[in-house]
Amino acid sequence: MVNLVKILAATVVPFLFTVSTTASRLEITATRNLNCGAGDNKVTNGYVHLDQGNLFFSLFEGKGQAKNNGLVIQFEGGPGASAFDYPFIGAGPCQLTQGGDATISGLSPAPHPWTNYGNLLAVDFPVGTGWSYNTSNQSPASTSDKAAEDFDDFLQIILQKYPQFQKQPLILSTLSYGGTTGSHIASTVLSRNKAAKAKGQSSRIIKYFDQLLFGNPFADAMGDIYGNWDTLCNVEPRAYNETICSHWRDGLTTCLDKLRYVYDVETSKDLRIDARQSCVKSVDILWGAPAFNRYNRKEPHCYPTNLCFWWNAPLTTLMNSKDMRDWLGVTNDITQWWYAGAAMVRFANSGDNMQNAYKLLQPVLESGTRLLAYSGLEDTVVPYNGTLSWMKRLPNPLLAEFRSAETQGFSNDIFAGTVINPGSAYSLIGISEAGHIVQQTHAAVTQQMVKYALQGKNYNPLKN
Ligand SMILES: *[C@@H]1O[C@H](CO)[C@@H](O)[C@H](O)[C@H]1NC(C)=O
Ligand SMILES: *[C@@H]1O[C@H](CO)[C@@H](O)[C@H](O)[C@H]1NC(C)=O
Ligand SMILES: *[C@@H]1O[C@H](CO)[C@@H](O)[C@H](O)[C@H]1NC(C)=O
Repeated sequence: MVNLVKILAATVVPFLFTVSTTASRLEITATRNLNCGAGDNKVTNGYVHLDQGNLFFSLFEGKGQAKNNGLVIQFEGGPGASAFDYPFIGAGPCQLTQGGDATISGLSPAPHPWTNYGNLLAVDFPVGTGWSYNTSNQSPASTSDKAAEDFDDFLQIILQKYPQFQKQPLILSTLSYGGTTGSHIASTVLSRNKAAKAKGQSSRIIKYFDQLLFGNPFADAMGDIYGNWDTLCNVEPRAYNETICSHWRDGLTTCLDKLRYVYDVETSKDLRIDARQSCVKSVDILWGAPAFNRYNRKEPHCYPTNLCFWWNAPLTTLMNSKDMRDWLGVTNDITQWWYAGAAMVRFANSGDNMQNAYKLLQPVLESGTRLLAYSGLEDTVVPYNGTLSWMKRLPNPLLAEFRSAETQGFSNDIFAGTVINPGSAYSLIGISEAGHIVQQTHAAVTQQMVKYALQGKNYNPLKN
């Protein structure tokens, strides 16, 4: 029935490019009140059903007047890592209690929720992540550029269903690989907006991101590869012995040559996979052999990687509980929720990570979107120096200012760290003691970033 309608619609209006944003494609699965002891919080769960797959979201409404302040869309990295860590490790109103029950009633009030300042929409992106799924006759995207089109379709439907967000600030907040997928999304939304305007197409809702908030962003394979070798092999504490490090270093020239070809001349799945074979080490080396927890080098070695975060096991228990499935209203098409979903393998098999997505941000920044990147200084998975490297090379109106700005060390009431170009629309913050997931250990910091993002500026740790 649904398919028939779609085919008919496609036949009748073949010239409507992008999605036909019929509200029927959004399904609300549950509207809930979340109260863990510090007041009521409205949460709306649902799917946006697209041709290629079905994206799950939870909208945590801002508290009181904060629901009028803007929308922060959060997804995770991987690609394929579920967005549902963020709302339950401090960004939402209720969080997992360390040592407590992994149940909805075992949640406790988060001390620094984003929902004090605005609306938080967690989305399992791309298809094949967390609660997002595809059926056997849907073929989901396996590259960031295609997946960005899905995201744009998703966003159109959300903006149509919740027209108040058309007028409120819109923030895209991502972690890790979200630097790559998020760059594609920002670029796709912008170019589709431009195309719709040029054609005078009125069915599209024109909406721009006010700010990108990228946590420990992987957005440039080359910078990350240099950064990885430096952090793992060239500074103390070293992750590996001399045998592994010299072998790794000897392979760098071949790897970087292949990457340069992919960056500068042509790209294809085969070329990217060939580059990946030279550039990415085995799981045993990457995760088995390091002397410490690569997500935070101050912490002890952990392997497999789900043992690297205390909340990973309770989150998995919580998500797979019958109570939570009912609470979210998720589909029976998914038998098991995994923190790392099927999208991870699909994207890996297409060599999606062998690219320099940061370059897509040039027109986005030129169009007025702000970028605030932040990075835990103890992370060795997507190290701070790799992020600094691409930020110093991304053409944009503030590049000269950024390049000539000094790295300033500071310590304020909330945290200590470094900042480059504080308060400007293009800045980078380093967070001492933090690792890959700053939200986990420094929720007060990410809350400030969100607060100021919604107020129309990049958080300035020297002032606020
Ligand atoms: C989703 O799509 C993938 C790739 O096209 C396919 O292998 C998989 O079986 C599909 N998932 C389901 C649940 O049908
Ligand atoms: C990061 O770069 C700075 C400046 O070039 C350097 O002093 C530092 O050792 C680097 N850190 C790592 C972990 O590579
Ligand atoms: C270096 O580390 C690897 C992985 O832990 C180990 O297999 C190898 O024996 C070590 N080599 C030396 C010379 O210690």
